[in-house]
Amino acid sequence: MKAAEKSAHIAPASGGGAAPRHVAIIMDGNGRWAKARGLERTAGHREGVAAARRAVEAARDLGVEYLTLYSFSTENWRRPAGEVRDLMGLLKQFIVDDLPRLRKEGVRVRVIGDKDNLTADLKTLVRRAERETENNTTYTLQIAFNYGGRDELVRAVRAAADAVKRGDIEADDIDEATFSRFLDTAGAPDPDLVIRTSGERRTSNFLNWQAAYAEYVFADVLWPDFDADAFADAIAEYKARERRYGGVGDA
Ligand code: IPE
Ligand code: IPE
Ligand code: MG
Repeated sequence: MKAAEKSAHIAPASGGGAAPRHVAIIMDGNGRWAKARGLERTAGHREGVAAARRAVEAARDLGVEYLTLYSFSTENWRRPAGEVRDLMGLLKQFIVDDLPRLRKEGVRVRVIGDKDNLTADLKTLVRRAERETENNTTYTLQIAFNYGGRDELVRAVRAAADAVKRGDIEADDIDEATFSRFLDTAGAPDPDLVIRTSGERRTSNFLNWQAAYAEYVFADVLWPDFDADAFADAIAEYKARERRYGGVGDA
């Protein structure tokens, strides 16, 4: 197989002025938003959920096909127990409150990350949200929860090794496309654009494999203040970029 064919899946059908098909967001800055107002961090997380809701609406209006929201990382367990509990509670509340509307609007919901370590009730809710929306086609909302890029890769390697052991695939047949099918994001296009709010300029273990050729937009706005205009600005910045995928481009 030629090298260009082997990595063909990292070049999605967008860029060069086109709108991104898949936008992934590192929703950062809830704590600082709360602190600036003399509030508890949890108040920031609650406003963060409101901003996430707005982003879901904005993504639909902007014609995005996939929106991935980084909501809780495998490293976020290092936070105080109370904050971790609040974040779990907010995901639960989000599913309970928003599932009927998402279902009605035709949004397909998928949770990526290690679901095994979630509480039984959260697991049940997540399964319900995924099942009840699996045939929806308006667009796909991927919630990255208990998600870590390295953790996902290790789980995918294990799953691929199991498949070899069972005789389902040959080790020699594992290429980039085959391997992608063992990731939590199997079937989804790679993100074209990754937005991180709050002024931090790092990826914090987000979509390490999938974002290999994504464009990054770092916005200074704190996540609870992120609105449809900020979303549109990030997309405009993306559209002005030239994606070359290692080639020489149009110049
Ligand atoms: C993002 O906001 C939400 C999560 C990581 C769950 P933070 O809680 O990280 O907010 P800052 O970075 O402390 O301001
Ligand atoms: C990244 O934000 C994780 C999420 C937004 C869920 P963090 O606030 O946890 O990242 P670091 O610790 O600043 O790298
Ligand atoms: Mg943070």
